Amino acid sequence: MIRAAYTFPRGFTWGTSTAAHQVEGGNTNNDWYAWEQQSSRIALGHTSGQACDWWGGRWREDLDRAASGGQTAHRLSIEWSRIEPTPATWDESAIEFYRELLQGARARGLVPLVTLHHFTTPMWMADRGGWSNEIIVTHFERFVRKAVGALKDLVDTWVTINEPNLVAYLAYLTGVFPPGGHSLTVTFATLRNTALAHAAAYHAIHEIQPEACVGLAHHYRGFQPANPKSPLDRWIARFRHRIFNDVIAEAAYTGRLNLPGASQRLPQAARTQDFLGLNYYSTEQFAFDLRHPARALMVGEYPQDADLSPSGFIANAPEGFWLALQWANRFGRPIIVTENGIEDAEDTIRPRYLAVHLHQLWRAVNFNWPIQGYYHWSLVDNFEWDRGWTQRFGLYELDIETQERKERPSARFYADICRENSISSEMVERYAPEVLDELFPTPGDPELSRLVGQ
Ligand code: FCB
Repeated sequence: MIRAAYTFPRGFTWGTSTAAHQVEGGNTNNDWYAWEQQSSRIALGHTSGQACDWWGGRWREDLDRAASGGQTAHRLSIEWSRIEPTPATWDESAIEFYRELLQGARARGLVPLVTLHHFTTPMWMADRGGWSNEIIVTHFERFVRKAVGALKDLVDTWVTINEPNLVAYLAYLTGVFPPGGHSLTVTFATLRNTALAHAAAYHAIHEIQPEACVGLAHHYRGFQPANPKSPLDRWIARFRHRIFNDVIAEAAYTGRLNLPGASQRLPQAARTQDFLGLNYYSTEQFAFDLRHPARALMVGEYPQDADLSPSGFIANAPEGFWLALQWANRFGRPIIVTENGIEDAEDTIRPRYLAVHLHQLWRAVNFNWPIQGYYHWSLVDNFEWDRGWTQRFGLYELDIETQERKERPSARFYADICRENSISSEMVERYAPEVLDELFPTPGDPELSRLVGQ
């Protein structure tokens, strides 16, 4: 077997990502908690409950695991509804909790990257229309000023909003996120409000902490035509890419929100990314069915031969990650991969998913694209939004009854990668042998080798 390694540049950041509502538990004052209490909103009627009990202090043991696994950074989010439980009243004990958590991360050698809004909105704001009401821009900015002022000595890098594009579509078009809307007009209004809120937060953070590094975490989804020869399939895949991937990222670059039929200037949003956060999971394909044109906005499919996660939610499509990185590189900013991962309770597909995605990342890094780090989603199984506990994204397995954690093989694989700052043929042979030939092909013509072997 060939012995080789894909090595990353010195100082490359390796981490994992989590989000407050998914790991803290007992988080009862936001729109997601209320949503979870309604019947049939969450798979199997699950609720976030105690989650991973980070609020109860188990962040300590999980960050110990991250640090002992060779990670050098951790992305987490702070919960707006805890810090500002009612408008303009501040819960100093919640701020103290996050200070301790951030100090704890640093003490373990994990540089924190902090997200200010990761899907959950305080009830008082949700009752006023949440992201669909432009008033959120000033409310969010007020929260950001308070949070950044209180935590700036512990945090250098901020994500303002996690996946504003996904939130707009899932909350206001397909309706699987609260408040369960189904309106394209409101979806577009939400995209505009999130772009404005990001811009307001960006400028506020720089006012308070001029040296801060501020960006958005974009959810990039690959969209391919089901039939590449069909002009309609090509058109719909392109259209989806434009409205899903491009709109917010371009607005935060050019200051123009290019919504179909409603392009508008948002000059305050121009050049508001010190880095581009990229979340990539999968790529789907689109066919344009003339009998059901509206469906084109809603559903994509995975190819029949796709390498699927257990529930079929994610297809292992590493070439889409390459395209995502290429897309991110267009903006000419440093890139941080803020999320990438797969649900896989049995850990049968995750090791190869990790191997082939990191291979694409290595390729991009070696094109000298300014990629600074990679944060795997996630450190430990956590509450997976509308899919509840049915999907397990952790390097560590969580038993939600006992709060016991169990290391998955992928945790060991990722720890080897983090410690070595490279992914080697030995590691791949050990953890994902099924992709060894793909990642480390034996030189020469396989046909000739077969003949020689005979
Ligand atoms: C992303 C979310 C993250 C997690 C992963 C699986 O879209 O940002 O919170 O749910 O998907």
